[in-house]
Amino acid sequence: MNLKGRDFLKLLDYTPEEIQYLVDLAAELKDKKKKGIPVDTLRGKNVALIFEKTSTRTRCSFEVAAHDLGMGTTYLEPASSQIGKKESIADTARVLASMFDGIEYRGYGQDIVEELAKYSKVPVWNGLTNEFHPTQMLADLLTIQEHFGYTKGIKLAYMGDARYNMGNSLMVTCAKMGMHFVACTTKEYFPDAELVAVCKEIASKTGGSITLTEDAMEGTKGADVVYTDVWVSMGEPDEIWEKRIKELSPYKVTMDIMQNAGENSIFLHCLPAFHDLKTKIGAQMAERFGIQDMEVTDEVFESSQSLVFEEAENRMHTIKAIMAATLQ
Ligand code: CP
Ligand code: NVA
Repeated sequence: MNLKGRDFLKLLDYTPEEIQYLVDLAAELKDKKKKGIPVDTLRGKNVALIFEKTSTRTRCSFEVAAHDLGMGTTYLEPASSQIGKKESIADTARVLASMFDGIEYRGYGQDIVEELAKYSKVPVWNGLTNEFHPTQMLADLLTIQEHFGYTKGIKLAYMGDARYNMGNSLMVTCAKMGMHFVACTTKEYFPDAELVAVCKEIASKTGGSITLTEDAMEGTKGADVVYTDVWVSMGEPDEIWEKRIKELSPYKVTMDIMQNAGENSIFLHCLPAFHDLKTKIGAQMAERFGIQDMEVTDEVFESSQSLVFEEAENRMHTIKAIMAATLQ
């Protein structure tokens, strides 16, 4: 498998075999890290990390993974660079590509990261856009593979806002890997119809399936994985919280939902999560709407079925695999 020089912008651009290769490479790199075997095969290279939105996991994963591989990193945020204000994406791409061996970009529209990749002669990795979050997908696949031993045939029920980066990406991932994706939410939050059609077509060849339902119990029945994400994503206006809480509360992941899925089911969440009142926004919402949690109850989040921290750790190993495979 040779992925040298490839961009990593969305899983639609990758074959199931390439995706599986990256997941397996991540498992190998994780094993080596645990055993203390250094893999610093990219010594002397440098990567630029552009973050137009905030991040804990993705930024730390890129920095730690790059360091482990022997690379230098430069973190760029809009406030401290010319990006977008005085310099176009096309010009930024050409400048950064002349100094760095790879560029990570987290920001708004998918068109921006695609434009960056078009003008960059070095690989560009999508660290999250409004539409897709592909590096998260590899971490999720690795977590599922570690737990169940396989990914093909797994049923993944996604609750909540399925029309944004996480819903879209999980639907594409399931289609590609022969998994069964079920979006459990109201019609307004179903993924984009065009993307659903594309995914159904892919799934028909891989043995996967795509189902959209408003019935949370029917949708999560027998699911191997129950997945959710925040109800208001980065870049969306604060005013929208009230509407989302009202409309998506029936799709909160509760113990009833997990029991309906079955005792062998696991809970995943890309994080950060609103499962208690220990955050500024969580506390504000509690005060305004009298709620204790949002997309997932604390009981589920802290239960033995919840693998969210294993999943978060896997962000680093999978991002390392992406950089190693595309730069080596
Ligand atoms: N899951 C994820 O992308 O987390 P961050 O926003 O902290 O990077
Ligand atoms: N949908 C979330 C994902 C965070 C990792 C957001 O875009 O904010």
